[in-house]
Amino acid sequence: MHPLQQKVIKAFERRFGTRPSHIIRAPGRVNLIGEHTDYNDGFVLPMAIDRATWIAISPRDDRQVQAHSLDFEETAVFHLDHLKKETGWGEYLKGLAYVLQQEGFQLSGWNGVLATDIPIGAGLSSSAALEMGVMRAFTAVSSLTWQPVRMARLAQKADNEWVGIQSGVMDQMISANGRAGHALLIDCRDLSTCPIPLPEGTAVLILDTMTRHSHAESGYNERRQSCEAAAAFFGAPALRDVSWQHFLARAAEMEPPMRRRARHVISENERALHAAAAMQNGDAAAMGRLMNASHASLRHDFEVTNKPLDVMAGIAQAQPGCFGARMTGGGFGGCAAALVSAEQADTIGAAVAREYETVTGLQPHIYVTQAGAGTAVIKSSRRRTTCFGNCSRFIYRMRENERE
Ligand code: GLA
Repeated sequence: MHPLQQKVIKAFERRFGTRPSHIIRAPGRVNLIGEHTDYNDGFVLPMAIDRATWIAISPRDDRQVQAHSLDFEETAVFHLDHLKKETGWGEYLKGLAYVLQQEGFQLSGWNGVLATDIPIGAGLSSSAALEMGVMRAFTAVSSLTWQPVRMARLAQKADNEWVGIQSGVMDQMISANGRAGHALLIDCRDLSTCPIPLPEGTAVLILDTMTRHSHAESGYNERRQSCEAAAAFFGAPALRDVSWQHFLARAAEMEPPMRRRARHVISENERALHAAAAMQNGDAAAMGRLMNASHASLRHDFEVTNKPLDVMAGIAQAQPGCFGARMTGGGFGGCAAALVSAEQADTIGAAVAREYETVTGLQPHIYVTQAGAGTAVIKSSRRRTTCFGNCSRFIYRMRENERE
């Protein structure tokens, strides 16, 4: 049994004097490529990781929710009939109850205990894991069918409408739909997915700079607005609809900052599709080159890296046995990710840690991660993963673009 599973069960028994009826695990994620493309209706290639939020729950007879977080040492308490906006981590839970009820779902109350080993604010989607775990909790106690894609979309709506974060849908999608040993190519317009195995003999290293982002203070919402303005400039519904050729034809007419933002998103969409094809061909070297190019684009065009992320990615990219490295997630701090030879992963991790500390004075946290499964009830862990997409369609689109 995973130590966090044991921990939430024990704490649940102490707090509520009974055994929990369900144990839920909802993973964090690392995005391999396709950054800041999700809210442009584009393509992303994340994988669920082996770090997760664990929740022990039991239904209640009334419509109250009492959820205790072992990490925050705080209990969120609210009534499903009287949802009121306040502040704190409990807002994520209330937001989910709000959107589920808005959709007409009949919810039951529950008692729960939560714990996570996903570092908070590190760009590994601790909040999406919390959201999808709580979504699964609501569906389990309310005897509703678990629909991972629909629930991911609803969790994004809760983020946007209740919590006040204008995030895209990538994090919730991968936390809900992750598949062991695979990354998932997600089309963020129609939410079709296609599992892509990691190239044989490779591993993914998470390189935590130990600097932290904050969505509210960061330029995330500002970047999103620039992208919408750029799409409007092209008369397109979203930047996903603007081809590289179309961009080049009109680039000179754009203000430089908007041109840079658009250039990142349009080129990143192409990189994400090429990366999925490279991974499918087991071509780690090609995948690595695309990751390096993605970091450069996020640094110079989208301007969402910080100095430690640039230092970390640069050091990793220079290591023998490292195919490529880039910042991952929203940026402005947090983690980078590197695709490395599995055999050399530990040596590379140690070398990067030493050099990063020498250059920045910060002690990084570096570890190998495994591509894990998506959100599930662990007690009856027979989960089916379906490929909703048509893999050849993605590759076809890429070839079409190449021809243009
Ligand atoms: C954050 C958001 C995602 C996505 C990434 C950037 O993680 O929550 O929706 O926009 O940033 O790719």
